[in-house]
Amino acid sequence: MCGIIGINSNKPVSATIINSLKKLEYRGYDSAGMATINNGLINEVKSEGRVENLEKNSLVQNMEGTIGIGHVRWATHGLPNSINAHPHSSQNVSVVHNGIIENSTILKKFLIGKGHKFKSQTDTEVIVHLITENLKTDNIVDSIKKTLKSLHGSFALGIIFKDQPDLIVGARRGSPLAVGYGPNENYLGSDSYALKSMTNKITYLNDGEFCIIKRDHVEFFSEEGTKINKKVLKLSSTEEKYDKGDYKHFMAKEIEEQPNTIKNGINEYLDMSNKDINIYNFPWKSNEITSITLIGCGTAYHSCLMAKYWFEEITSLDVNIDIASEFRYRKNRFKKDTLYVFVSQSGETADTYAALDLCKQSGVKTCAVVNVVESSIARDSEFVLPIHCGTEIGVASTKAFLGQILILYILALKLALWRKDIEKNNFNKKIDDLKKLPKLIEQTLLIDNKIQTISNTFNEAKGSMFLGRGFSYPIALEGALKLKELSYIHAEGYPAGEMKHGPLALIEEGMPVVVLAPRDNYYKKTISNMQEVIARGAKVLLITNKSKDEVISENIWETIEVESTNEDLLPFLLTIPLQKLAYYSALKKGYDIDKPRNLAKSVTVE
Ligand code: AGP
Repeated sequence: MCGIIGINSNKPVSATIINSLKKLEYRGYDSAGMATINNGLINEVKSEGRVENLEKNSLVQNMEGTIGIGHVRWATHGLPNSINAHPHSSQNVSVVHNGIIENSTILKKFLIGKGHKFKSQTDTEVIVHLITENLKTDNIVDSIKKTLKSLHGSFALGIIFKDQPDLIVGARRGSPLAVGYGPNENYLGSDSYALKSMTNKITYLNDGEFCIIKRDHVEFFSEEGTKINKKVLKLSSTEEKYDKGDYKHFMAKEIEEQPNTIKNGINEYLDMSNKDINIYNFPWKSNEITSITLIGCGTAYHSCLMAKYWFEEITSLDVNIDIASEFRYRKNRFKKDTLYVFVSQSGETADTYAALDLCKQSGVKTCAVVNVVESSIARDSEFVLPIHCGTEIGVASTKAFLGQILILYILALKLALWRKDIEKNNFNKKIDDLKKLPKLIEQTLLIDNKIQTISNTFNEAKGSMFLGRGFSYPIALEGALKLKELSYIHAEGYPAGEMKHGPLALIEEGMPVVVLAPRDNYYKKTISNMQEVIARGAKVLLITNKSKDEVISENIWETIEVESTNEDLLPFLLTIPLQKLAYYSALKKGYDIDKPRNLAKSVTVE
């Protein structure tokens, strides 16, 4: 997704803007640009591709100015090229924008009628000319207020003005935006990552608010243009040093970090000495919650689906799940005794945030399961369960997935205990098994060479299927998503029992099919489904867990055995080979593993 940086300083800003844009690279983008004000002029430089292309531009190297804005763009309107890159500028105004302006076509017609000339295909450019038009009659605050009122859709904006070279305006609606405070300078950023290397003092704008950032102070305004006071937060930690270490890719590092991810989560929530779970300050009594609705996108949605099976198995709660982009447009019947849980690694996913906003407007209970505790979803939920997996840079989520399902499993156990849905000794047994999970993940991570070889077959195929039942079904979906988003090969996750209702027709000689069949309650049924696809020529990769019993089937192409453990926990282990399969497939294809094409780490547009 797009990223914004703005700096108002007593010293030249171009190098710092470039460095900050590099920190925003993880968000995924296709072009970059920046603008400063110097000697009464707006200097704008933009480039296609990576930030280093911008950095190499000689105009940037000689760029003067102590006030400036920068942007990395993930194209929504208009091709990814330097013309459509941000900032967009008129003679008097320069703008960087995250989000989508839904009424840009009408506004463009109106502005062309006023004589404004457009250079790009973007929706953003209408903002530039609208402000320029309003400045003809109004001061800065009124022209900003009037402009924002005319915009439909979502935005986070950074704006500089030729005739006001001492200020930056920031404005937010539906797309995150933060202000940072430094010595003799202040900042604007689309998230805390962009600002962490310069400050740990942050103020987040809420929807509708805008601000005027001077070098030595910042003023905040409500949608109506009245001055408001805002809290200055101290970020949880100074900038985390995240680099690849000895790994070729962040994703490889993050896969290997998963034993620690689980250890961190267990240490955070488990009270080992009392064999209990600590969920501090949970704001509701257990009898105030009779059902749970879990909401997320992509991998986070798969976490919700995984949790559904655990909640149903361990508690007596009714459990619903939904994809956030569906939930937000549904005719929802909000219930006071339902806990709405929003699962999101970044905490900035637009659809998930919009679903949360809907729930907040309906006054129902909201809880966030997130990795970024300073994120919008975390800040706007009544209660937050952090997953503590550290910064996840790879666009393809790995350790955050395991972190999410761990916290959801822990929540299910705790609610079950509170509601007396589970006997204490059964609870204790599950806690004991959970404590052994990091070690089991470590052992499962050792399965590597075989997967590297197997990945070749998936690369040569025109498509593949991932099958599972019960607890394994969400993992089948997650495994298919990983292969799709990393190696650009079509892969479909499907309930194993559903194959005979149509998709069996897809199976042809040599087609690779992953079958997740751990020795759990669904094992026998899934093995029969496996035999159905083998009989039609599929090359089956069976992923099961170690057992003294032989697998009762022939003609299995390859078998991978993960460690054995409590059935509840097998999904954690089944996930590992699938993450590696996708990684090695993409590695062989030479694709950009940490930044797959067309994707972004945090999807802050609808
Ligand atoms: C997963 O590998 C993808 N990167 C994507 O599906 C991601 O899970 C989804 O966009 C949700 O992101 P979030 O967890 O930050 O809300």
